[in-house]
Amino acid sequence: MSKGYKTIKLKKKQQIAWVTLDRPDKLNAINAVMLQELSEIIDKLKEDANVRCVVITGEGEKAFSAGADLTELHKLTPRTAVEFSMKGQQVFTKLETFSKPVVAAINGYALGGGLELTLVCDFRIASSNALFGCLEIKLGIIPAWGGTQRLPLIVGLAEAKRLIMLGDKVKAEEAEKMGLVDKVVTPNELEATVEALAQKLCEISPEALKHVKLALNSETQPCIDSGLKKEREFFALLFSAKETRKKIEDFWPQRNKK
Ligand code: COA
Repeated sequence: MSKGYKTIKLKKKQQIAWVTLDRPDKLNAINAVMLQELSEIIDKLKEDANVRCVVITGEGEKAFSAGADLTELHKLTPRTAVEFSMKGQQVFTKLETFSKPVVAAINGYALGGGLELTLVCDFRIASSNALFGCLEIKLGIIPAWGGTQRLPLIVGLAEAKRLIMLGDKVKAEEAEKMGLVDKVVTPNELEATVEALAQKLCEISPEALKHVKLALNSETQPCIDSGLKKEREFFALLFSAKETRKKIEDFWPQRNKK
């Protein structure tokens, strides 16, 4: 069923669609191809009446996703930075407003854009080896795929400031305490726990779920949308600073191997 996709595996198990970010050798870093494929898959699952719940996870044992692909991020200019941000924001908003429930099965690193992807899921279940962080500030930039807008809504402004302004990383248990994840289980239990939750969601009226999501999002969505505009403008502005590219190079010396 995932035939044709280069960076994502799509598997259906009864009424649950498992969407697996599939670049394990790059810790499932999200590049332009993956964003595009994710967008197409969301559209396809929306129309698929047999699918009642979507699960997003990462391939391999180490990572859900280590964030935006730094080899792409490094090349951005102020103009392309706006497009880069807007594309991610659009795809993630599409998922946030998706008519069916979405569960994140967080099986390792959820950093930068990887963390931002979990924020648009309705439920977040993490394995005990998961590690969360908004590392953008260490690169001299800011989250650009909705993190500045959604993280405060989920964990509160104080914790969001700690994560985003300091770039602190938090382990699964701490993430659970701050409400960033709903539940932490062992890596071996992750799949079964998520499947049980997804199965429970499949048994609830899809029309009721669709409408309750619309109702739950109705107040926050307009604020998120206007905040996303600011977020991408500020993100692009930071790419006009000479130091930004240097900071990314210093942070990411591996890039030079490529
Ligand atoms: N973009 C592109 N490639 C990435 C990546 C990213 N965000 N994160 C990891 N990778 C690649 C590495 O380049 C490496 O590829 P290579 O073997 O071809 O060199 C591979 O994934 C494994 O990563 P590596 O750094 O060797 O694993 P590690 O276990 O030593 O470290 C991390 C794991 C997550 C701590 C480290 O990879 C990291 O800091 N990644 C960047 C995370 C980040 O800043 N994300 C936010 C971007 S805004």
